[in-house]
Amino acid sequence: MAYNQILEDDTGSEHIIEIKNLNKSFDGTKVLKDITFYIRNNEFITLLGPSGCGKSTTLRIIAGFETADSGIVNFEGKDLLKTPANKRNINTVFQRYALFPHLNVFDNVAFGLKIKKVAKPEIKERVNKALATVGLADYGERYIDQLSGGQMQRVAIARAIVNRPRILLLDEPLGALDLKMRKEMQLELKSMQRELGITFVYVTHDQEEALTMSDTIIVMKDGIIQQIGTPIDIYNEPKNAYVADFIGESNIVAGTMKKDFEVTLSGGITFKCVDPMFKEFTEGVQNLVDVVIRPEDFYVEEEKEGRINGTVESIVFKGVHYEMLVRSDDGIVWMVQNVDPCKIGQRVGLYVDPDDIQIMRRSELSPDFGSYGIKKPAENAPDGEGAGASAAASKEENK
Ligand SMILES: Nc1ncnc2c1ncn2[C@@H]1O[C@H](COP(=O)(O)OP(=O)(O)OP(=O)(O)O)[C@@H](O)[C@H]1O
Ligand SMILES: [Mg+2]
Repeated sequence: MAYNQILEDDTGSEHIIEIKNLNKSFDGTKVLKDITFYIRNNEFITLLGPSGCGKSTTLRIIAGFETADSGIVNFEGKDLLKTPANKRNINTVFQRYALFPHLNVFDNVAFGLKIKKVAKPEIKERVNKALATVGLADYGERYIDQLSGGQMQRVAIARAIVNRPRILLLDEPLGALDLKMRKEMQLELKSMQRELGITFVYVTHDQEEALTMSDTIIVMKDGIIQQIGTPIDIYNEPKNAYVADFIGESNIVAGTMKKDFEVTLSGGITFKCVDPMFKEFTEGVQNLVDVVIRPEDFYVEEEKEGRINGTVESIVFKGVHYEMLVRSDDGIVWMVQNVDPCKIGQRVGLYVDPDDIQIMRRSELSPDFGSYGIKKPAENAPDGEGAGASAAASKEENK
């Protein structure tokens, strides 16, 4: 392919789309700020982030429903922004399926092909194949109002894939379904994507959904990409406190590093870790870092010097494990998952393997103390100096 890759990729795979320095403002407010990423051919890539971070806007620019202020969108070497939406070989599935209620399932799926004047026998073959792919082979004669929400969503997907697009854009397509149906459809969509060999670009604000389905996840916040990686990378090696907090439960606390492979938590306990100091750090001084520990990575043992010693404050049974909040003696609240039950008020000592301690640079996104809060006298002070309260509040906002 006479096609010049503009973005680095150490896997050497083919990029079906490359987006570089994409910017977009609405009414003077920047909603996309220098968005740059590539999409590999045949991958399942997900834009993940909280409401309003610019996921749909990015998708709508790729689809051609929205213009960009500046930037490049390259599709198999062509300038996509100069190609009209209907010539892009890209189809979109929306959260609201917008099916035609007066047409049956077959005619809903056939609609686009009829407009394009595709021959009748070919329409029949393609529609039936698309319906079989989404598990609705026998539903052609049914009317839309005789379908469940999940079935309607399948029709919407069939209507998109019948066009044989190179790329399918899906904007929160499972948002209207109940939890059980969502989970089923997540797995089906993933296997459909593999079977069809189409690149899927998926948008969701649900981190679990993104982790389940994606080959690659792009985490966005306020129009800025925070991290791009595989689900495992993003979960295990979050780049900053924002990503760590958004992807699953995590304890994020302030710490310091004086030398490689050792970190001291704010309460004064020093743990071994597997990270050396960042290159800009100076040996021997207290370099500020964020420390991330996932709730499932704690060992709950007896209190002892060198462990995070504290008192169990709450316990919730979550099916496989118990979720507890433990307040350590320095006031920080830790989220801990444990398969054995403890008692409220019980004294415990928390231990973590060096492997499970993730060190990050401190940033403006870091919570002031623990991500689950801290109780200090300042919290009740009239001037509102309560750092723990604000950290806890920001945690809520991200949910
Ligand atoms: N046509 C528009 N006119 C003005 N502002 C817009 C328009 N479309 C989007 N915005 C604004 O741009 C920002 C990003 O919107 P976008 O729809 O991309 O967010 P999102 O990440 O898809 O959020 P959600 O998860 O709620 O769907 C929001 O602040 C939104 O209000
Ligand atoms: Mg959206």
